Amino acid sequence: MPALKKRLERESTVGHLPALEEILHGLRRFTSDPKTTVFQISEQVSRDPSLAVRLLRMANSAYYTRAEPVVSLEEAVLFLGVEQVRTVSVTMGCVERMSPQDKSGFKWPDFWRHCIATAYVARILGRFFHRKHADPELDYIAGLLHDVGKLVIAMLFPDGFGYVFNKAREQKLSFCEAEQNYFDTDHAALGGWYLERQNMPPAVFETVRCHHNWTLSVENQEIAAIVNVANHFAHENALGCSGNMQERVGSFTEIPSWRFLLDTMTLKEDASIIEQRLREESQRLGGLVEVILPGTTAPLTVTPPSQESTLPAAAIPHAPGSSSQLALPG
Ligand SMILES: [Fe+2]
Ligand SMILES: [Fe+2]
Repeated sequence: MPALKKRLERESTVGHLPALEEILHGLRRFTSDPKTTVFQISEQVSRDPSLAVRLLRMANSAYYTRAEPVVSLEEAVLFLGVEQVRTVSVTMGCVERMSPQDKSGFKWPDFWRHCIATAYVARILGRFFHRKHADPELDYIAGLLHDVGKLVIAMLFPDGFGYVFNKAREQKLSFCEAEQNYFDTDHAALGGWYLERQNMPPAVFETVRCHHNWTLSVENQEIAAIVNVANHFAHENALGCSGNMQERVGSFTEIPSWRFLLDTMTLKEDASIIEQRLREESQRLGGLVEVILPGTTAPLTVTPPSQESTLPAAAIPHAPGSSSQLALPG
């Protein structure tokens, strides 16, 4: 375990990060028990006006084609189904709980768009394969939280996060490369560490830890590969932005994780049909994400950093040449 993580643990830093138990609670909040009526779920939803508004907007969005508009909450719940109700509730809970106050110019609303799109694609993708332990909710949560390590860094070391963000832009590095250069660890490792301490299921924290290097996952390689593909797909189709300033990426059909899924798992459809369906989804997903994400109707007003990034060495956990106490041995 990198020393940065050790230090975070020693200082009980995780106590300064948002507790995510609510998320797991949220998954249970809207039950799939067939005995629960639409009226009961609608009643629960109506106690949360912000959720109710989003569900109504979602039911009437272009993502779903309907001849008649949905006007009542009950109708919206019936139309969308309990899974979507749960998804929107959990997603909003995450977004609202984790809002860093850094001044780096990093576009957090775009970051969340990327995460939500990745989550949807992971869940859609997961359903195309016959899997022993399929759990669409875990696919969604792992996709939603795959980049949560960036939030961890931004919440604990806002100056360090801004420094890395600006260095990645200036030097045209991937975010992981910039993080490794300056922290000796990256958001994948930190995200996995954080989620493990939040008592998330191993399938989630291991997938998050391995989302860029899915082959390192031992027990959860399928879901790690699925999230890797979904992440790539979100980048490829410019669904949000997670801060990577590199050139556009190629097709997901050419990446090793996609080949791995096709070669090792049993498909429910022909691969070409799956690829075509995903492409169709990409046309519609952007609109759906806009409905879910709070406050996205207003234009984003994040000022991009305009000057050469400078940061006192003490604020950087491990800048090269720095003697910071947070320096890692490797
Ligand atoms: Fe990532
Ligand atoms: Fe990502």
